[in-house]
Amino acid sequence: MAVRLAEAYELEAVNRLRKQVNDLHTAGKPEVFKPGFPAELRDFVHVIWNDPEQDIAVCEREGEICGFAVLHHICKPENPFMYERDFLDVDEFCVDEKRRRQGVGRELMAFIRKYAREHGLHRIELNMWEFNRDALAFYETEGFATFRRYMETFV
Ligand SMILES: CC(C)(COP(=O)(O)OP(=O)(O)OC[C@H]1O[C@@H](n2cnc3c(N)ncnc32)[C@H](O)[C@@H]1OP(=O)(O)O)[C@@H](O)C(=O)NCCC(=O)NCCS
Repeated sequence: MAVRLAEAYELEAVNRLRKQVNDLHTAGKPEVFKPGFPAELRDFVHVIWNDPEQDIAVCEREGEICGFAVLHHICKPENPFMYERDFLDVDEFCVDEKRRRQGVGRELMAFIRKYAREHGLHRIELNMWEFNRDALAFYETEGFATFRRYMETFV
């Protein structure tokens, strides 16, 4: 298994996984997420690719891309409430549904930690949807803890 930054020709394989994430989100939060995988969503991978503040990490196993993550360097300037915050945001993260619970996510996360340190970043942030208990269990296993919540009620 090799974890590394993606090559341009691998963006289609990344999109196959991005569709899995969108399907999961659509099923879990249908009032928020648009179903399907329209061209707009597919092409967004190029926006990520062309952004100098973002990188796409992939995990390759037996010649197949079986996991990916979007790594986004974010630097928020100081404001009246908060100090400057400089961190790595993991924006998308997915392991192919047929490769889950085989340690791919763990390998990807190890790469991300190393990547963050190499870029002088010592804090990794991510957000996830509350219904996604599998992701929560994984992230907590990886040492992530909730530091902020979004709440909602319907009226
Ligand atoms: C969440 C996800 C990335 C985990 O990847 P994975 O490759 O299956 O995880 P690993 O095999 O590396 O798991 C490492 C450890 O995390 C924990 N873990 C992983 N998935 C878990 C689950 N579904 N339930 C409970 N614990 C879990 C376990 O402790 C596991 O170790 P073990 O298998 O030896 O018990 C994967 O399920 C996934 O891609 N889900 C769909 C997309 C998604 O939800 N992305 C995140 C939000 S955008």
